[in-house]
Amino acid sequence: MSAYENEYQKAIHQPAEFWLEQAQNIDWFEMPTVGLGEDDHGIERWFPNGKLNTCWLALDYHCEQGRGEHAALIYDSPVTMSQKTYTYIELRDEVAKVAGMLAELGVTKGDRVVIYMPMIPEAVMAMLACARLGAIHSVVFGGFAPNELSVRIEDAEPSVIITASCGIEVNKTLAYKPLVDKAVMDSRWKPKHVLVLQRPQCTAELNLERDVDWHQAMSRAEPHDCVPVLATDPLYILYTSGTTGKPKGVVRDNGGHAVAMKYSMLTIYNMPQNGVFWAASDVGWVVGHSYIVYAPLIHGCTTLLFEGKPVKTPDPGAFWRVCQDYQVDVLFSAPTAFRAIKKEDPNGDYLKQYDLSHLKAIFMAGERLDPPTLQWVTEHTQKPVIDHWWQTETGWAISANPIGLEVMPVKAGSSTKPVPGYQIDILTESGDVAQPGQQGFVAIKRPLPPSCLPTVWRNHDRFQSGYLGQFPGYYVSGDGGYMDEEGYLFIMGRIDDVINVAGHRLSTGEMEEVVGAHPAVAECAVIGIHDELKGQLPIGLVVLKDGVDVESGALESELIGKVRDEIGAVACFKHALVVERLPKTRSGKILRRVIRQIADGEEYVVPSTIDDPTSLVEIEKALHLS
Ligand code: COA
Ligand code: AMP
Repeated sequence: MSAYENEYQKAIHQPAEFWLEQAQNIDWFEMPTVGLGEDDHGIERWFPNGKLNTCWLALDYHCEQGRGEHAALIYDSPVTMSQKTYTYIELRDEVAKVAGMLAELGVTKGDRVVIYMPMIPEAVMAMLACARLGAIHSVVFGGFAPNELSVRIEDAEPSVIITASCGIEVNKTLAYKPLVDKAVMDSRWKPKHVLVLQRPQCTAELNLERDVDWHQAMSRAEPHDCVPVLATDPLYILYTSGTTGKPKGVVRDNGGHAVAMKYSMLTIYNMPQNGVFWAASDVGWVVGHSYIVYAPLIHGCTTLLFEGKPVKTPDPGAFWRVCQDYQVDVLFSAPTAFRAIKKEDPNGDYLKQYDLSHLKAIFMAGERLDPPTLQWVTEHTQKPVIDHWWQTETGWAISANPIGLEVMPVKAGSSTKPVPGYQIDILTESGDVAQPGQQGFVAIKRPLPPSCLPTVWRNHDRFQSGYLGQFPGYYVSGDGGYMDEEGYLFIMGRIDDVINVAGHRLSTGEMEEVVGAHPAVAECAVIGIHDELKGQLPIGLVVLKDGVDVESGALESELIGKVRDEIGAVACFKHALVVERLPKTRSGKILRRVIRQIADGEEYVVPSTIDDPTSLVEIEKALHLS
């Protein structure tokens, strides 16, 4: 049996024993004696009698082990032309003070803290400080508009919100504080305090009754110790797009998460403990949570925080410059980032200027790694390029080429095989296991391994119905795909109303709610269509209310503005077409899949349930004229 097969079988057949063994690799306050338990809802819970603190594992533990002088965090910011390195001792001391500052503001174990910050060290410190106190952080990506922030504030009910005066995008400074003020104003839940980090590029106005200046409060703060929590206590809530307008609060526990993070660094990424790990993502996404903050630090590596873009900060050599300057061992980003680089540096002229001899592997996730991008990156870097598939809900890879165990041959378009702990089946509509090569629902047999969500924040019914209800005994991922004869998994895309734009997960259902609320719009459909650079882009098709007289260009601009204001620039909603009617089934369901196939120029089958086949001709005309 191969090393992979051996590990995989153990994890599937003796999950409790397997994961209890892995749990020995982290430093518990009280070592768990039970691997797998069950909560009141009958949901699997890992290490129910273990006690730990995730911040301890990420920082203090390494200092205790005599590794305090090792670099923990490197901040590289081409947009502010600055760089800074924190050793483990320095980062621990800063985080302990941030925790003290939050405690001073009344934050205690179990309280929620919303973090709306750009890619600066204080964002990482804020997350770790919450973990230190046993408080639950909820980071909101800076590209989301106030309305999205407001929805998350109402759901999470934070006692404190932490923000910065601004974020810096390519050639522009974006003031964050007015966005936070608006979000708080629009929310029914009001935090006690808003903690504001003033950056030199922009000064935020403070409301003296509620707002607290980070630097001033830090100058008075006393360091705070790590608070022990149960393995099953939540570490964070991370909101992600579902099929409706309301995002889902994915809950991550402390113990299962820490064990899975540690395991993944060894097994999937084959990371040496003294190595440098760079996830070129954002702390607002799950990749940032797991692989900018928690996993590299729990493993004792140096993690890189990059405040910049793959291109234009200042050029498409940025990734390679960082890999060279900091001797990065493993680089992880989304395929869209490499497509952006490839577009601006097709022959790899920038790439050739840098010494990449230290780099061992490049991992990609967030969307399918398309074969041309795989080929370009492999050819130009001459490094192993590894696609791995995962979701906010799991917090780590479900399928991968686990190079720490064994390097399997790469198949273009496939994220290789299930990671030990995940038993993946492709299910047909009726719940049978599909044949090799046959497409179906990609589902994971329970128990889900450590780190996977045990619930949706304060909405267990949504967890039950959205993930567990469709096929008893399984978690449904929302992705469609197939497995080949050799057990390689091919993820073919979402089969719900979720799209992936530049590696960012967005809900078309939510965009439809915004577009549909326009007074001129009778009904609408938003679909994701193929885009060379960003993978997918949303496009809206709108039917006007009878008697409405509006110029289609003007309406399009208004709708684009509305989506930008209510969801955020990150939605990249740039097209809305007026059509006479939408193709529907006789029961009134909009045929979104067929519309998408028409838009992408794919062959499609006219569904037998269609109400009026001529509606497809109209859509075809509208889409291809646009
Ligand atoms: N704060 C505020 N605004 C933000 C933001 C942030 N953190 N991130 C993005 N935006 C804004 C951008 O400025 C842009 O605004 P604009 O329409 O006014 O220009 C808009 O949101 C769209 O951003 P994005 O989709 O990132 O497009 P881009 O053209 O700026 O960059 C890529 C394209 C491919 C370079 C970029 O998306 C990228 O690097 N993606 C990597 C993917 C990634 O990190 N995925 C996470 C999972 S691994
Ligand atoms: P997120 O929760 O934001 O990480 O997005 C998860 C979704 O991104 C998945 O459900 C997939 O649709 C998509 N995704 C992530 N990684 C991959 C991958 N390697 N291949 C195909 N799709 C992916």
